Amino acid sequence: MKKLIAANWKMNKTVKESISFVKEFEKIVNEKDVDIVICPAFTSLNVVANEIKNSSIKLGAQNMHFEDSGAYTGEISALMLKEIGCEYVILGHSERREIFNEDDFLINKKVIAALKNNLKPILCVGENMGQRKNGKTREIIQNQLKNCLGNIDKNQILKINVAYEPIWAISKGNPNHKAATAEDAEEGHKFIRSVVEKMFGKNISKNIRIIYGGSMKPENAKELLGMPNIDGGLVGNASLNAKNFAEIVQSAK
Ligand code: 13P
Repeated sequence: MKKLIAANWKMNKTVKESISFVKEFEKIVNEKDVDIVICPAFTSLNVVANEIKNSSIKLGAQNMHFEDSGAYTGEISALMLKEIGCEYVILGHSERREIFNEDDFLINKKVIAALKNNLKPILCVGENMGQRKNGKTREIIQNQLKNCLGNIDKNQILKINVAYEPIWAISKGNPNHKAATAEDAEEGHKFIRSVVEKMFGKNISKNIRIIYGGSMKPENAKELLGMPNIDGGLVGNASLNAKNFAEIVQSAK
């Protein structure tokens, strides 16, 4: 399956910085064998869309509201993202869950709204350190998948990319933070695939893309991406630097 490498810039990069990243990145990478997605802040979506219009790089957003329009001050809808050129949207990121109190049921509404508007969700799931230490990893991931993927037409499931992001592995901007080992990440991915199989059958579970997020960087990308159930990466901190992000993309080939 074609690998997906997505940059989640989080709340980083001004418009100017976003433009200069894309200009530098496009000089180093021209890769058709990997799906490359850049998810900048909302304020940079338009300019990044413009910069990448003649390349194979795809645009993604980091969040959205589940309604198409209405009295929701400060929110952005799937309809707006689609019009600006987004193909992907990250949903249910642990930072949205933890800091902005998003729960599985809200995320499920967003997944449904994204699909309705022809956006491909990157649905994040994963346990925190306390849950892991208490042996709850599988239960947490299974519940997140069941709740967030509820009421979704089977025919639409393969438009979804699941991102396994163990919260304890997320760098929070520290470049020296430790990623999950390739074995631990693989175990999580295998489990996710087994839950998807129970929910939607073997054909879908075999073909759904499950990508890893949490301190992926040039030093560990090859090993992580070499695991049989890891179909790509959702990269935070290391995606802020064009050379590092390019190296990770090359490791996915
Ligand atoms: P880091 O790569 O900075 O650990 O972030 C991972 C992440 O949260 C991507 O969504």
